[in-house]
Amino acid sequence: MPTVLLADLPASIATAVRALRAGGLVAFPTETVYGLGGLALDPVHIARIFAAKGRPSSHPLIAHTDSVAGARALAHGATLGEQGELLAAAFWPGPLTLVVPRAEHVPPELTGGGPSVAIRVPAHPAALALLRALGEPLAAPSANRYQTLSPTLAEHVVRSLGDRVALVLDGGPCDAGIESTVVDVRGDVPRVLRPGALSLAALRTVCPDVVMGQDSAVERDDPRASPGLDPKHYAPRARLVVVSHEDVTSAVRNALDQGHRVGALIGKELSVMFEIPCERLEASPEKYGHELFAALHRLDDSGVDVVVVERVPDTEAWTAVRDRLTRASASSDP
Ligand code: TXA
Ligand code: MG
Repeated sequence: MPTVLLADLPASIATAVRALRAGGLVAFPTETVYGLGGLALDPVHIARIFAAKGRPSSHPLIAHTDSVAGARALAHGATLGEQGELLAAAFWPGPLTLVVPRAEHVPPELTGGGPSVAIRVPAHPAALALLRALGEPLAAPSANRYQTLSPTLAEHVVRSLGDRVALVLDGGPCDAGIESTVVDVRGDVPRVLRPGALSLAALRTVCPDVVMGQDSAVERDDPRASPGLDPKHYAPRARLVVVSHEDVTSAVRNALDQGHRVGALIGKELSVMFEIPCERLEASPEKYGHELFAALHRLDDSGVDVVVVERVPDTEAWTAVRDRLTRASASSDP
Protein backbone atom coordinates (compact mmCIF):
# COMPACT_ATOMS: atom_id res chain seq x y z
CA MET A 1 0.00 0.00 0.00
CA PRO A 2 1.22 3.56 -0.64
CA THR A 3 2.43 5.86 2.11
CA VAL A 4 -0.30 8.30 3.19
CA LEU A 5 0.81 11.60 4.73
CA LEU A 6 -1.16 14.56 6.02
CA ALA A 7 -1.08 17.14 3.24
CA ASP A 8 -0.77 20.26 5.40
CA LEU A 9 2.67 19.52 6.84
CA PRO A 10 5.80 21.01 5.25
CA ALA A 11 7.61 17.69 5.82
CA SER A 12 4.94 15.89 3.76
CA ILE A 13 5.44 18.27 0.85
CA ALA A 14 9.21 17.75 1.01
CA THR A 15 8.72 13.97 1.04
CA ALA A 16 6.37 14.24 -1.95
CA VAL A 17 8.93 16.24 -3.93
CA ARG A 18 11.58 13.59 -3.18
CA ALA A 19 9.22 10.82 -4.28
CA LEU A 20 8.55 12.62 -7.57
CA ARG A 21 12.26 13.24 -8.14
CA ALA A 22 12.86 9.53 -7.54
CA GLY A 23 10.39 8.72 -10.33
CA GLY A 24 7.33 7.89 -8.21
CA LEU A 25 3.79 9.18 -8.70
CA VAL A 26 2.22 11.31 -5.96
CA ALA A 27 -1.52 11.75 -5.42
CA PHE A 28 -2.48 15.11 -3.98
CA PRO A 29 -5.69 16.92 -3.01
CA THR A 30 -7.11 19.68 -5.17
CA GLU A 31 -10.29 21.69 -4.62
CA THR A 32 -12.02 19.49 -7.24
CA VAL A 33 -10.87 15.86 -6.87
CA TYR A 34 -7.58 14.14 -5.98
CA GLY A 35 -4.96 14.27 -8.74
CA LEU A 36 -2.38 11.63 -9.72
CA GLY A 37 0.76 13.72 -10.19
CA GLY A 38 3.88 13.13 -12.24
CA LEU A 39 6.35 15.53 -13.86
CA ALA A 40 4.46 17.10 -16.77
CA LEU A 41 7.52 17.65 -18.95
CA ASP A 42 8.96 14.15 -18.52
CA PRO A 43 7.66 11.52 -21.00
CA VAL A 44 8.73 8.70 -18.66
CA HIS A 45 6.57 10.09 -15.84
CA ILE A 46 3.69 10.61 -18.24
CA ALA A 47 3.89 6.99 -19.39
CA ARG A 48 3.78 5.92 -15.73
CA ILE A 49 0.61 7.94 -15.18
CA PHE A 50 -1.16 6.30 -18.12
CA ALA A 51 -0.03 2.87 -16.96
CA ALA A 52 -1.16 3.50 -13.36
CA LYS A 53 -4.60 4.67 -14.50
CA GLY A 54 -4.95 2.05 -17.22
CA ARG A 55 -5.95 4.90 -19.51
CA PRO A 56 -5.25 5.05 -23.26
CA SER A 57 -2.31 7.36 -23.92
CA SER A 58 -4.31 9.20 -26.58
CA HIS A 59 -6.27 10.92 -23.77
CA PRO A 60 -4.44 14.15 -22.94
CA LEU A 61 -3.58 15.16 -19.37
CA ILE A 62 -3.96 18.47 -17.57
CA ALA A 63 -0.73 20.29 -16.61
CA HIS A 64 -0.97 21.95 -13.20
CA THR A 65 1.12 25.03 -12.46
CA ASP A 66 1.46 27.30 -9.43
CA SER A 67 0.85 30.59 -11.26
CA VAL A 68 -0.43 32.27 -14.41
CA ALA A 69 3.19 32.85 -15.41
CA GLY A 70 3.88 29.14 -15.07
CA ALA A 71 0.85 28.42 -17.27
CA ARG A 72 1.96 30.90 -19.95
CA ALA A 73 5.31 29.14 -20.13
CA LEU A 74 3.50 26.04 -21.45
CA ALA A 75 1.49 27.96 -24.06
CA HIS A 76 2.55 28.78 -27.60
CA GLY A 77 3.90 32.34 -27.72
CA ALA A 78 3.86 32.48 -23.91
CA THR A 79 0.27 33.75 -23.87
CA LEU A 80 -3.10 32.24 -23.01
CA GLY A 81 -4.76 34.40 -25.66
CA GLU A 82 -7.16 37.26 -25.06
CA GLN A 83 -10.04 35.24 -23.58
CA GLY A 84 -7.70 32.85 -21.77
CA GLU A 85 -5.90 35.71 -20.04
CA LEU A 86 -9.24 37.21 -18.91
CA LEU A 87 -10.46 33.88 -17.56
CA ALA A 88 -7.14 33.12 -15.86
CA ALA A 89 -7.12 36.53 -14.16
CA ALA A 90 -10.67 35.99 -12.91
CA PHE A 91 -10.64 32.33 -11.85
CA TRP A 92 -7.09 31.13 -11.13
CA PRO A 93 -6.21 29.66 -8.79
CA GLY A 94 -9.42 27.63 -9.14
CA PRO A 95 -11.42 24.88 -10.82
CA LEU A 96 -10.89 26.07 -14.40
CA THR A 97 -8.78 24.30 -17.05
CA LEU A 98 -7.80 26.22 -20.18
CA VAL A 99 -7.00 24.54 -23.49
CA VAL A 100 -4.47 26.58 -25.50
CA PRO A 101 -1.97 25.92 -28.30
CA ARG A 102 1.05 24.22 -26.74
CA ALA A 103 4.60 25.53 -26.56
CA GLU A 104 7.29 23.64 -28.52
CA HIS A 105 8.92 22.14 -25.42
CA VAL A 106 5.69 20.57 -24.13
CA PRO A 107 6.03 16.83 -24.82
CA PRO A 108 3.40 15.40 -27.16
CA GLU A 109 2.98 12.51 -24.71
CA LEU A 110 1.26 14.99 -22.35
CA THR A 111 -1.23 16.15 -24.97
CA GLY A 112 -2.18 12.86 -26.56
CA GLY A 113 -0.08 13.88 -29.55
CA GLY A 114 -2.35 16.88 -30.18
CA PRO A 115 -1.38 20.51 -30.82
CA SER A 116 -3.05 21.91 -27.68
CA VAL A 117 -2.32 21.66 -23.97
CA ALA A 118 -4.75 21.82 -21.03
CA ILE A 119 -3.52 23.86 -18.06
CA ARG A 120 -4.87 24.74 -14.63
CA VAL A 121 -3.69 26.50 -11.48
CA PRO A 122 -5.37 24.66 -8.60
CA ALA A 123 -6.52 26.54 -5.50
CA HIS A 124 -5.93 23.86 -2.85
CA PRO A 125 -3.13 25.03 -0.51
CA ALA A 126 -1.45 21.60 -0.54
CA ALA A 127 -1.50 21.43 -4.34
CA LEU A 128 0.00 24.92 -4.56
CA ALA A 129 2.60 24.14 -1.90
CA LEU A 130 3.63 20.99 -3.77
CA LEU A 131 3.88 22.81 -7.12
CA ARG A 132 5.94 25.62 -5.56
CA ALA A 133 8.31 23.28 -3.79
CA LEU A 134 8.73 21.24 -6.96
CA GLY A 135 9.31 24.29 -9.15
CA GLU A 136 7.86 22.72 -12.31
CA PRO A 137 4.43 21.66 -13.63
CA LEU A 138 2.69 18.43 -12.65
CA ALA A 139 0.57 16.39 -15.01
CA ALA A 140 -2.41 15.18 -13.00
CA PRO A 141 -5.47 13.31 -14.10
CA SER A 142 -7.96 12.31 -11.45
CA ALA A 143 -6.33 9.72 -9.18
CA ASN A 144 -8.49 6.73 -10.07
CA ARG A 145 -8.36 3.82 -12.52
CA TYR A 146 -9.73 4.64 -15.97
CA GLN A 147 -13.54 4.86 -16.19
CA THR A 148 -14.12 4.43 -12.47
CA LEU A 149 -15.46 6.88 -9.89
CA SER A 150 -13.33 9.95 -9.24
CA PRO A 151 -11.65 10.18 -5.83
CA THR A 152 -12.74 12.85 -3.36
CA LEU A 153 -11.01 11.28 -0.34
CA ALA A 154 -7.47 9.95 0.13
CA GLU A 155 -8.88 6.49 0.88
CA HIS A 156 -10.61 6.45 -2.54
CA VAL A 157 -7.16 6.91 -4.13
CA VAL A 158 -5.60 4.14 -2.08
CA ARG A 159 -8.40 1.75 -2.91
CA SER A 160 -8.41 2.51 -6.63
CA LEU A 161 -4.66 2.73 -7.30
CA GLY A 162 -2.96 0.83 -4.46
CA ASP A 163 0.77 0.50 -5.03
CA ARG A 164 0.56 2.13 -8.44
CA VAL A 165 1.01 5.39 -6.50
CA ALA A 166 4.03 5.90 -4.25
CA LEU A 167 2.54 8.48 -1.91
CA VAL A 168 -0.85 10.03 -1.16
CA LEU A 169 -1.11 13.46 0.42
CA ASP A 170 -4.27 13.36 2.53
CA GLY A 171 -6.07 16.71 2.58
CA GLY A 172 -9.47 15.37 3.67
CA PRO A 173 -12.59 15.68 1.50
CA CYS A 174 -12.31 17.80 -1.66
CA ASP A 175 -14.35 21.01 -1.60
CA ALA A 176 -16.05 20.87 -5.00
CA GLY A 177 -16.09 17.09 -5.44
CA ILE A 178 -16.50 17.50 -9.21
CA GLU A 179 -13.68 18.03 -11.72
CA SER A 180 -12.64 21.37 -13.17
CA THR A 181 -14.48 23.04 -16.03
CA VAL A 182 -12.45 22.57 -19.23
CA VAL A 183 -12.63 25.57 -21.58
CA ASP A 184 -11.05 25.72 -25.03
CA VAL A 185 -9.92 29.29 -25.64
CA ARG A 186 -8.31 28.76 -29.04
CA GLY A 187 -11.24 30.00 -31.13
CA ASP A 188 -13.18 33.26 -31.36
CA VAL A 189 -15.48 32.25 -28.54
CA PRO A 190 -14.54 30.16 -25.49
CA ARG A 191 -15.99 26.63 -25.59
CA VAL A 192 -16.77 24.49 -22.57
CA LEU A 193 -15.47 21.00 -23.41
CA ARG A 194 -16.31 19.56 -19.99
CA PRO A 195 -18.78 21.20 -17.58
CA GLY A 196 -17.34 21.21 -14.09
CA ALA A 197 -16.96 22.89 -10.74
CA LEU A 198 -16.79 26.41 -12.19
CA SER A 199 -20.32 27.25 -13.30
CA LEU A 200 -21.35 28.56 -16.70
CA ALA A 201 -22.90 31.55 -14.96
CA ALA A 202 -19.52 32.41 -13.43
CA LEU A 203 -17.74 32.01 -16.79
CA ARG A 204 -20.31 34.27 -18.42
CA THR A 205 -19.56 37.13 -16.02
CA VAL A 206 -16.16 37.34 -17.73
CA CYS A 207 -16.85 35.95 -21.21
CA PRO A 208 -20.55 36.55 -22.01
CA ASP A 209 -20.36 34.68 -25.32
CA VAL A 210 -19.02 31.38 -23.92
CA VAL A 211 -20.67 28.35 -25.55
CA MET A 212 -21.13 24.72 -24.56
CA GLY A 213 -19.47 21.96 -26.52
CA GLN A 214 -17.08 21.22 -29.23
CA ASP A 215 -16.57 23.09 -32.47
CA SER A 216 -17.71 20.47 -34.98
CA ALA A 217 -15.10 21.61 -37.52
CA VAL A 218 -12.33 21.17 -34.95
CA GLU A 219 -13.65 17.76 -33.96
CA ARG A 220 -13.57 16.57 -37.54
CA ASP A 221 -9.97 17.65 -37.93
CA ASP A 222 -8.78 16.45 -34.55
CA PRO A 223 -10.65 13.52 -33.05
CA ARG A 224 -8.58 13.89 -29.89
CA ALA A 225 -10.07 17.33 -29.22
CA SER A 226 -12.48 16.15 -26.52
CA PRO A 227 -11.48 12.70 -25.35
CA GLY A 228 -12.72 13.36 -21.81
CA LEU A 229 -16.20 13.29 -23.28
CA ASP A 230 -16.11 9.51 -23.23
CA PRO A 231 -19.70 8.39 -22.70
CA LYS A 232 -18.71 5.90 -20.00
CA HIS A 233 -16.69 7.70 -17.38
CA TYR A 234 -16.97 8.22 -13.66
CA ALA A 235 -18.82 4.92 -13.42
CA PRO A 236 -19.59 3.00 -10.23
CA ARG A 237 -19.71 -0.80 -10.27
CA ALA A 238 -23.47 -0.73 -9.70
CA ARG A 239 -25.76 0.13 -12.60
CA LEU A 240 -27.41 3.54 -12.19
CA VAL A 241 -31.04 3.98 -13.19
CA VAL A 242 -32.04 7.64 -13.31
CA VAL A 243 -35.77 8.30 -12.84
CA SER A 244 -38.03 11.23 -11.95
CA HIS A 245 -39.03 12.07 -8.37
CA GLU A 246 -42.43 10.39 -8.82
CA ASP A 247 -40.96 7.16 -10.17
CA VAL A 248 -38.32 6.45 -7.51
CA THR A 249 -40.49 4.17 -5.37
CA SER A 250 -41.77 2.07 -8.28
CA ALA A 251 -38.27 1.82 -9.78
CA VAL A 252 -36.91 0.54 -6.45
CA ARG A 253 -39.77 -1.96 -6.17
CA ASN A 254 -39.25 -3.20 -9.74
CA ALA A 255 -35.53 -3.71 -9.22
CA LEU A 256 -36.15 -5.54 -5.91
CA ASP A 257 -38.76 -7.73 -7.61
CA GLN A 258 -36.18 -8.65 -10.21
CA GLY A 259 -33.91 -9.90 -7.44
CA HIS A 260 -31.40 -7.06 -7.47
CA ARG A 261 -29.63 -5.64 -4.48
CA VAL A 262 -30.85 -2.06 -4.70
CA GLY A 263 -29.65 1.28 -3.38
CA ALA A 264 -30.97 4.80 -3.85
CA LEU A 265 -29.47 8.23 -4.44
CA ILE A 266 -32.20 10.75 -3.74
CA GLY A 267 -32.97 14.25 -2.49
CA LYS A 268 -33.58 15.05 1.16
CA GLU A 269 -37.35 15.40 0.79
CA LEU A 270 -38.12 12.01 -0.62
CA SER A 271 -39.01 9.11 1.61
CA VAL A 272 -38.37 5.60 0.37
CA MET A 273 -40.53 2.88 1.84
CA PHE A 274 -37.84 0.22 1.68
CA GLU A 275 -34.94 -0.66 3.92
CA ILE A 276 -32.17 -0.28 1.39
CA PRO A 277 -28.83 1.57 1.36
CA CYS A 278 -29.82 5.14 0.68
CA GLU A 279 -27.81 8.32 0.10
CA ARG A 280 -29.63 11.65 0.46
CA LEU A 281 -28.02 14.65 -1.15
CA GLU A 282 -28.71 18.36 -0.71
CA ALA A 283 -30.82 20.33 -3.15
CA SER A 284 -28.08 22.75 -4.26
CA PRO A 285 -25.78 21.82 -7.13
CA GLU A 286 -22.68 22.78 -5.14
CA LYS A 287 -23.56 20.69 -2.09
CA TYR A 288 -24.81 17.82 -4.26
CA GLY A 289 -21.58 17.90 -6.30
CA HIS A 290 -19.48 17.99 -3.13
CA GLU A 291 -21.04 14.69 -1.97
CA LEU A 292 -21.85 12.92 -5.24
CA PHE A 293 -18.77 10.75 -5.81
CA ALA A 294 -18.39 9.94 -2.11
CA ALA A 295 -22.05 8.83 -2.02
CA LEU A 296 -21.55 6.62 -5.10
CA HIS A 297 -18.41 5.12 -3.53
CA ARG A 298 -20.43 4.29 -0.36
CA LEU A 299 -23.25 2.74 -2.40
CA ASP A 300 -20.72 0.59 -4.26
CA ASP A 301 -19.17 -0.43 -0.94
CA SER A 302 -22.58 -1.52 0.36
CA GLY A 303 -22.66 -4.20 -2.34
CA VAL A 304 -25.72 -3.04 -4.28
CA ASP A 305 -25.85 -3.82 -8.00
CA VAL A 306 -28.52 -1.29 -8.98
CA VAL A 307 -28.79 2.31 -7.76
CA VAL A 308 -32.02 4.17 -8.40
CA VAL A 309 -31.14 7.85 -8.81
CA GLU A 310 -33.66 10.66 -8.50
CA ARG A 311 -33.21 12.88 -11.54
CA VAL A 312 -31.72 16.32 -10.78
CA PRO A 313 -33.24 19.58 -12.10
CA ASP A 314 -32.95 20.32 -15.78
CA THR A 315 -31.53 23.80 -15.18
CA GLU A 316 -28.16 25.26 -16.19
CA ALA A 317 -26.81 25.37 -12.63
CA TRP A 318 -27.01 21.56 -12.54
CA THR A 319 -25.13 21.01 -15.84
CA ALA A 320 -21.96 19.51 -14.33
CA VAL A 321 -23.84 17.23 -11.92
CA ARG A 322 -26.17 16.07 -14.71
CA ASP A 323 -23.15 15.38 -16.93
CA ARG A 324 -21.52 13.17 -14.25
CA LEU A 325 -24.76 11.29 -13.56
CA THR A 326 -25.36 10.71 -17.26
CA ARG A 327 -21.86 9.33 -17.76
CA ALA A 328 -22.02 7.25 -14.59
CA SER A 329 -25.26 5.70 -15.83
CA ALA A 330 -24.01 5.07 -19.39
CA SER A 331 -23.81 1.38 -20.16
CA SER A 332 -20.40 -0.11 -20.79
CA ASP A 333 -21.70 -1.67 -24.00
CA PRO A 334 -20.80 0.39 -27.04
O1 TXA B 1 -10.40 18.84 -11.68
C1 TXA B 1 -9.67 18.33 -12.51
O2 TXA B 1 -9.58 18.75 -13.67
C2 TXA B 1 -8.84 17.11 -12.07
C3 TXA B 1 -7.84 17.61 -11.02
C4 TXA B 1 -6.90 16.53 -10.57
O3 TXA B 1 -7.16 18.73 -11.49
N1 TXA B 1 -8.17 16.50 -13.18
C5 TXA B 1 -8.86 15.81 -14.12
O4 TXA B 1 -8.04 15.25 -15.09
O5 TXA B 1 -10.06 15.67 -14.12
P1 TXA B 1 -8.55 14.14 -16.10
O6 TXA B 1 -7.33 13.68 -16.81
O7 TXA B 1 -9.34 13.11 -15.39
O8 TXA B 1 -9.43 14.93 -17.12
C6 TXA B 1 -8.82 15.79 -18.05
C7 TXA B 1 -9.86 16.41 -18.93
C8 TXA B 1 -10.43 15.41 -19.91
O9 TXA B 1 -11.79 15.71 -20.13
C9 TXA B 1 -9.58 15.70 -21.15
O10 TXA B 1 -10.21 15.32 -22.34
C10 TXA B 1 -9.43 17.19 -21.08
O11 TXA B 1 -9.26 17.46 -19.71
N2 TXA B 1 -8.23 17.62 -21.81
C11 TXA B 1 -6.95 17.48 -21.43
N3 TXA B 1 -6.11 17.98 -22.37
C12 TXA B 1 -6.90 18.44 -23.37
C13 TXA B 1 -6.65 19.06 -24.62
N4 TXA B 1 -5.41 19.32 -25.04
N5 TXA B 1 -7.70 19.39 -25.40
C14 TXA B 1 -8.95 19.14 -24.98
N6 TXA B 1 -9.27 18.56 -23.80
C15 TXA B 1 -8.26 18.21 -23.00
MG1 MG C 1 -10.89 11.60 -14.60
